Amino acid sequence: MNLNTEIRLPRLHPAQTHVKLEASRFNILACGRRWGKTVLGLDLAIHSALDGNAVAWAAPTYKLLAEPYRTTQSLLSPIVKRISHEDHRIELVTGGTIVFWTLNDINLGRGYKYKLWIIDEAAHSPNLQTAFEGSIRPTLVDLCGDAWFLSSPQGHNYFHRLFLKGQSTDHHNYMSWQMPTASNPYIHPQEIADAKDALPDRTFRQEFLAEFAQNKDTIFQNFHRNITSFPISEANPSHTYIAGIDLAKVQDYTVITILNDQGQQVYFDRFRRQSWSQVISRIIAACQKFRAPAVIDATGLGDPIVEQLQSAGLTLFPFRFTSLSKEPLIQSLAVKLEQNKLSLLDIPEQTQELESFQAIATPGGGIKYSAPPGQHDDCVIALALAASKIGNSRLSVF
Ligand SMILES: Nc1ncnc2c1ncn2[C@@H]1O[C@H](COP(=O)(O)OP(=O)(O)O)[C@@H](O)[C@H]1O
Ligand SMILES: [Mg+2]
Repeated sequence: MNLNTEIRLPRLHPAQTHVKLEASRFNILACGRRWGKTVLGLDLAIHSALDGNAVAWAAPTYKLLAEPYRTTQSLLSPIVKRISHEDHRIELVTGGTIVFWTLNDINLGRGYKYKLWIIDEAAHSPNLQTAFEGSIRPTLVDLCGDAWFLSSPQGHNYFHRLFLKGQSTDHHNYMSWQMPTASNPYIHPQEIADAKDALPDRTFRQEFLAEFAQNKDTIFQNFHRNITSFPISEANPSHTYIAGIDLAKVQDYTVITILNDQGQQVYFDRFRRQSWSQVISRIIAACQKFRAPAVIDATGLGDPIVEQLQSAGLTLFPFRFTSLSKEPLIQSLAVKLEQNKLSLLDIPEQTQELESFQAIATPGGGIKYSAPPGQHDDCVIALALAASKIGNSRLSVF
């Protein structure tokens, strides 16, 4: 069968062709809305599957997967061998497969090896780093596979860091491009001109020019230089330590962070869905290991736990969150990061939370400090609690 006559793919426009020719192993494509990112992703995925490869496609949500999944099915219908709608898996007569995942699927990529991953709308998932480093990257090892990150920008997040890797000469197997919507000859220039008139300048620049705008609502800026590549360290008797503990409420995580008196983060633990007795024993083990007193969130649910930890012999500084107490706690963390008084472990969840944590003016004239809706702030809170006891030179608690 001549597959080229059976399967009709859109002919790539010049900018898409340019990108495809320049591709490396890890490819980051930051382009305006409607540039043709998904069309290019489909072209890459389909060609690879026609060659008999195992290909995976991911997007932040099912909604964002639905159209590429449907388009792939209809484009490939003459050569589909089997489709599993349950697994979003299309198998071709060529032996190639394309499977579709959401980035927050706990089984993402599990048990498979892939020749190619296409990650569409990559910047719009808060767990891109965890998904890529923890689940996707390992599935590319066997076949020495490639990955593509396609997205419009979303501030200074992990997608932006990948983009910068692609621009740097230090990472020869990363390549990145930044192109405006106007590179797509199928989009009428008047549409773009109308959007420019209708949208705030910032939004237009981000969505149509693909500029990485610093999110004006985020409070921790330029803190990436505080991240070190040190591993979690052992207790050192010449240092004193302080722990910060954010206790899980219903859905979220318990986080234990420990800093030494130099402001270096030496320990981090994050977990959820544990019984209270397990939570308590993990806290005790960590604090005892470093002989660390702990600043602990004692708001609401925290109280009974605080009592149990105290009776186990830990030194605790209970902290109660109110609209008044949160602001100075967070501001003080921001200042210490800006003044380079803290160095942080390289922990994807923590970095992501710091990147997205917001300070938003409320209609009542106050400022609300929190993670964006639907996201977590436990790492930030635990860090802020521990950092609150870090003075200029020595721990201020001693
Ligand atoms: N090579 C192409 N040939 C024809 N139409 C294209 C091509 N690339 C993109 N388009 C069209 O441009 C529009 C935007 O493409 P899409 O891939 O959805 O953009 P993005 O994913 O960047 O938002 C769609 O209508 C698509 O059909
Ligand atoms: Mg798209």
